Amino acid sequence: MRRLFPEPGPASVDKIVTAYRPFDHPREDRPFVAANMITTLDGRASVRGRSKDLGSDLDSEFLLKLRRRFDAVMVGAGTIRAERYGRLVRDARARAERERAGLSRDPLAVIVSGELNLPFDAPIFTEGAGRILVFTNSEEPAPETATSMSVRRFDEAISIDTVLLQLRSEHGIRAVLCEGGPHLFGQLEAADAVDDLFLTVSPELIGGEPSPRILEGALVEPRRKRLEELLENEGELFARYRPRQ
Ligand SMILES: NC(=O)c1ccc[n+]([C@@H]2O[C@H](COP(=O)([O-])OP(=O)(O)OC[C@H]3O[C@@H](n4cnc5c(N)ncnc54)[C@H](OP(=O)(O)O)[C@@H]3O)[C@@H](O)[C@H]2O)c1
Repeated sequence: MRRLFPEPGPASVDKIVTAYRPFDHPREDRPFVAANMITTLDGRASVRGRSKDLGSDLDSEFLLKLRRRFDAVMVGAGTIRAERYGRLVRDARARAERERAGLSRDPLAVIVSGELNLPFDAPIFTEGAGRILVFTNSEEPAPETATSMSVRRFDEAISIDTVLLQLRSEHGIRAVLCEGGPHLFGQLEAADAVDDLFLTVSPELIGGEPSPRILEGALVEPRRKRLEELLENEGELFARYRPRQ
């Protein structure tokens, strides 16, 4: 892997992730928010209904290692249904490292779901490791899960600002990593609440089949970002964007 911008030279996922300390930069009313997304050259965010097969092994490594630097990892229900998550940090040494850095052993898994129509047989619910917090509009009772799960119910539409405020003020979350999907990412951007966007550009064209873009839903107006860093490996690009000041 090499860095193309700002200073060209060799780079490694381990070094980048170790130097990255989002938990040092919480806001008063919300955690520091990073989003991690992947797109194809033709702007698609999934293939055969999933994003898992879009990136290389290095992209998966980057995604998994980034999780190690956050108090919480947040996804929308569509992503949990498509990707069927398991324990967020599987490596026991990485969990010990988290504790040494002052983070909880496992990141809090945050799921936003209107309907509470979640794959409760997915490993993240059945493995009994870590903690899950669900924000939902549903009044349906949630099933018993082996993994500890709390449910926060909203009568009104779930506002992403309220979710972020509660994560910060009630759960002490300093930094949250949003792994999508496009609708949840769209709400974060509409709320102007994305501090870092990690965007992988996979060097492939998907064509035909219907598939979302990385951002779905309304943005109030087009938003330009500032490129912070650009890495490359075998044609795959790993960019990090910040808001333009
Ligand atoms: N390329 C990438 O980086 C990437 C990343 C993640 C996912 N994906 C792909 O994106 C696709 C899924 O897209 P998506 O946009 O449906 O995913 P999503 O944003 O994860 O999920 C959307 C769902 O989340 C719930 N939700 C989000 N915001 C809500 C709110 N404010 N209030 C109530 N519920 C809310 C709703 O769930 P209910 O349906 O339960 O009401 C909604 O249908 C999959 O194919 C996945 O593989 C791609």
